[in-house]
Amino acid sequence: MPTISKKGQLMPQSPIRKLVPFAEEAVKKGKFIYYLNIGQPDIKTPEIALQAIKNSNIDILAYSRSEGSEVYRQKISAYYKKHDIGVNHNDIIVTTGGSEALLFAFGSIMDVDDEIIIPEPFYANYNGFSTASAVKVVPVISKIEDNFALPPIEEFEKLITSKTKAILICNPGNPTGYLYSKEEIEKLAAIVKKHDLFLIADEVYREFAYDGNTHYSIMQETELEDYAIMIDSVSKRYSMCGARIGCLVSKNKTVIQTALKFAQARLSPPTLAQIASEAALDTPQSYFDDVIEEYVERRNILISELQKIDGLKVAKPKGAFYCIVELPIKNSDNFAKWLLENFDVNGETVMVAPAGGFYSTPGVGLNQIRIAYVLNKESLIKAVNIIKEALKVYKD
Ligand SMILES: Cc1ncc(COP(=O)(O)O)c(C=O)c1O
Repeated sequence: MPTISKKGQLMPQSPIRKLVPFAEEAVKKGKFIYYLNIGQPDIKTPEIALQAIKNSNIDILAYSRSEGSEVYRQKISAYYKKHDIGVNHNDIIVTTGGSEALLFAFGSIMDVDDEIIIPEPFYANYNGFSTASAVKVVPVISKIEDNFALPPIEEFEKLITSKTKAILICNPGNPTGYLYSKEEIEKLAAIVKKHDLFLIADEVYREFAYDGNTHYSIMQETELEDYAIMIDSVSKRYSMCGARIGCLVSKNKTVIQTALKFAQARLSPPTLAQIASEAALDTPQSYFDDVIEEYVERRNILISELQKIDGLKVAKPKGAFYCIVELPIKNSDNFAKWLLENFDVNGETVMVAPAGGFYSTPGVGLNQIRIAYVLNKESLIKAVNIIKEALKVYKD
């Protein structure tokens, strides 16, 4: 029998999706599930984007340019200028979601066995993208007790070796909801310049910054032009996860030329979805104001309900729509499975993401779960109540 690759064997399963068969089984048995495991917002996609697809008068659904349509890239650069990010359309490659932008970034700057430093816990698929690129993740641990703030800069410097090529941050963070301050970005900028590393920032949640805090992009650091690579996406901003449109942005011409070769190999990003994404850029500010208000209310209710549970720890997110919750249990994989298989309150249960997969350090985060607050407030209250009742009877 032919064998599959070592890389294939090492590819981690998504901690967000791996419990799906158990959820399907629970639904078959008639249970209702509150899905807190996945960042699929229930917010409506802007009408302007949906209309653009309905009105598109296409005879041939052709490939687009590998780097994405020029008009769309020009409109993206105008959007960035409004956010004080001075890039032009040639600094942008449109990708199939932020996911492909991450793969292109990894492929463009790292070779087999190179190292990338990532504050942990991090977006679980960074593990998958690193394995696919045969790159080693070197975690720097941020702690729930510190609200997941950036660890001291000396912690990063201790980890830099001759193989280190980049530092990757997610801002605001999935799964922590942490929003980096301008000072923290400046500190990172200083290290990458000192050690000649790339700084990759995954900014797909840029708009989701709460409590009057503003998002500060690595692209606003003018002296970082050769070092900075930004990852972006329409998925969360416009609740357009299924469009599969994102982009890679850098002022470093060699990075863009290299990423373009990867983009050419896959021919083109989705053509129809670029039409919708271009139209989405005209979404009125009122849409975002309403969405942010809704998420802040959800976050506040979720956190205050969770804090009522004995023995539970939670860090208050300042952005995005996730939080890490530490539970008085030993193994959240078992707990999450048990919730689906063996527990309900009046026929209802909850699906959560076990947090172990958001760490690369073995054994860390096993008593934590990630909650995505992508459901309405009533559902969140019911879901937290289910977790509370579950913890009363659960035995590790
Ligand atoms: C931090 C982060 N980066 C990237 C992605 C990838 O998003 P997409 O490929 O849908 O743009 C996600 C999706 O959840 C995410 O949370």
